Amino acid sequence: MQQYEIYLNGLAGAVPGLPTDLARLEELAERRLGPGPFGYVAGGAGDGKTVRANREALDRWRIVPRMLRDVQRRDLSVELFGTRLPAPVALAPVGVLSIMHEDAEPAAARAAAAQGLPFVLSSASSTPLEQVAQAMDDVSEGAARWFQLYWPKDRDVTVSFLARAAAAGYRVLVVTLDTWLLAWRPRDLDQAYLPFLHGIGTANYFTDPAFQAGLAKPVHEDPNAAVLHFAQMFADPSKTWEDLAFLREHWDGPIVLKGILHADDARRAADAGMDGVVVSNHGGRQVNGAIGAADALPEIVRAVGDRLTVLFDSGVRTGDDVFKALALGAQAVLLGRPYAYGLGLDGQAGVEHVLRCLLAEFDLTLALSGYTEPGQLTIDALTRPDVR
Ligand code: FNR
Repeated sequence: MQQYEIYLNGLAGAVPGLPTDLARLEELAERRLGPGPFGYVAGGAGDGKTVRANREALDRWRIVPRMLRDVQRRDLSVELFGTRLPAPVALAPVGVLSIMHEDAEPAAARAAAAQGLPFVLSSASSTPLEQVAQAMDDVSEGAARWFQLYWPKDRDVTVSFLARAAAAGYRVLVVTLDTWLLAWRPRDLDQAYLPFLHGIGTANYFTDPAFQAGLAKPVHEDPNAAVLHFAQMFADPSKTWEDLAFLREHWDGPIVLKGILHADDARRAADAGMDGVVVSNHGGRQVNGAIGAADALPEIVRAVGDRLTVLFDSGVRTGDDVFKALALGAQAVLLGRPYAYGLGLDGQAGVEHVLRCLLAEFDLTLALSGYTEPGQLTIDALTRPDVR
């Protein structure tokens, strides 16, 4: 039990180096990390309305604990895409992690592997996908890893990314649909801070043979031209639902669409032969004034819960947030900023701290509320005091 380990260490005079209230990581990160990197991670679109809406959407719901139900033995494990995972949590794709810590994605991925939880590697990682896969295998051979695709304009680069990801053992493809354009992000704009222009977060592209084939000179001879080439092919805002057939053709495993907020879009995902969706507004970083992700969740679950795996992110900070997301119908959650802060504050150990605290708090919330397995959670475990 994580909490007794902490108390016992306290007998020897040791207290945790990072807060165990994960909601406090942000303020610590703000004090310790540079304003550019911190602003990039913490910031949202516009004046931050959607970031706030994500928290409000979760906070509106309250857990109604039930008593005398024998919660002595719990099992947090869930099955996702045919694989049993020790808990319903994965690390969300977060790009450019080298701005948080020099150990970057490999450190976060090793922390996930150590807990047996999936690591979703961003297309925009600062480390090539093969190196991240190796880092995970060093901890646990075949550790669960998924690849997030920012779907490039260039077909050859797309096909090459998918082939490389499959060869490196990434099993699930997560296709992000809400970032064809970078949103209006005043916190980054005010500092004129965009890591990609410095060639940070471009590792998968710069190491890709199909990408390199489009350059007149090797990346190291003309880095500016490489950055420009990256910026031009990064995304294709003209994509439509019909284009998904192309991905289905080039990816054998499960495909999950990330950034779904409308039940009709979730139905279209199912109709297009997709395997899952992530109900997400990109942590409030894309459309300012958008619906809180947790507010979108129940209707999407009603629409496609029997056909698709429904995952959730945006706003999850603590164990009770995980509980609420599952009770609203998600099968698992992705964790974003909290692990990025953990990485920034203490590298791999910081991410492990975040994951262990989150799982311990979720386990305790489950038990103290009268449940022993994630699958038992339904909306009956919650109430909304404001609409009673
Ligand atoms: C992200 N997110 C993201 N999503 C994605 O599909 N590919 C990416 O490269 C990134 N990069 C990224 C960078 C940073 C700094 C942040 C904070 C987020 C979005 C991420 O996967 C997830 O949707 C949100 O982070 C979830 O919200 P919370 O947990 O941060 O509130």
